[in-house]
Amino acid sequence: MKLTYYGHACFAVEAGGKTLLFDPFITPNPLAEKIDAGKIPADFILVSHGHGDHVADVVAIATRTGATVIAPYEVGCWFEAKGVKRVQSMNHGGGAEMPFGRVKLSAAVHSSSLPDGSYGGNPCGFVVESPDGSFYYSGDTALTSDMRFIGEQTKLRFAVLPVGDFFTMGIDDALRAADLVGVTRIVGVHYDTFPPIKLDHAAALKAAEADGKELLLPKIGETIEI
Ligand code: NI
Ligand code: MN
Repeated sequence: MKLTYYGHACFAVEAGGKTLLFDPFITPNPLAEKIDAGKIPADFILVSHGHGDHVADVVAIATRTGATVIAPYEVGCWFEAKGVKRVQSMNHGGGAEMPFGRVKLSAAVHSSSLPDGSYGGNPCGFVVESPDGSFYYSGDTALTSDMRFIGEQTKLRFAVLPVGDFFTMGIDDALRAADLVGVTRIVGVHYDTFPPIKLDHAAALKAAEADGKELLLPKIGETIEI
């Protein structure tokens, strides 16, 4: 499977012949200034919660590409009100068959309000199953024992987890989350964008190695085979 990192918690995965884009926050991100949000492909845009650092470019990319937005119920309804044509508003524990395979919304321990102060419901993560393999993106979350259910139910190739600390899990909790969901390969996201989430890359990589995990920190704009 191919994964492209666009900075912060935004990345795309090619799965089941479709491009799944997650949590686009590109134009306001100075670290992603080389990325042209006006050219990023997407068949589906999966949005974990309503915070600005996850929704900034959703409407523009959905409008340009005609992608279907998949989001927690209140966040999806907010995008519909903003004029997004194809929206799949779901809720936690619910799954759906999709052209790329299957998606299921998992629990996340965080908060979720939209940039205009609208109520965003509860934040989520996503378990994506596809013929190419399955993966988990936790969204912004604390470590939670609920993650164990994901590992029990789905054999995952990798997990995309926040490692920046302060607003989400830091590296130590992300390593424990990886154990709970049964992966050794982690793509780290949600770090370096803002001063409080600056990551000591060398220390994080060392902690992962000492724990028998592979921590991948792709460069912004880099595509990796995973
Ligand atoms: Ni957030
Ligand atoms: Mn965030």
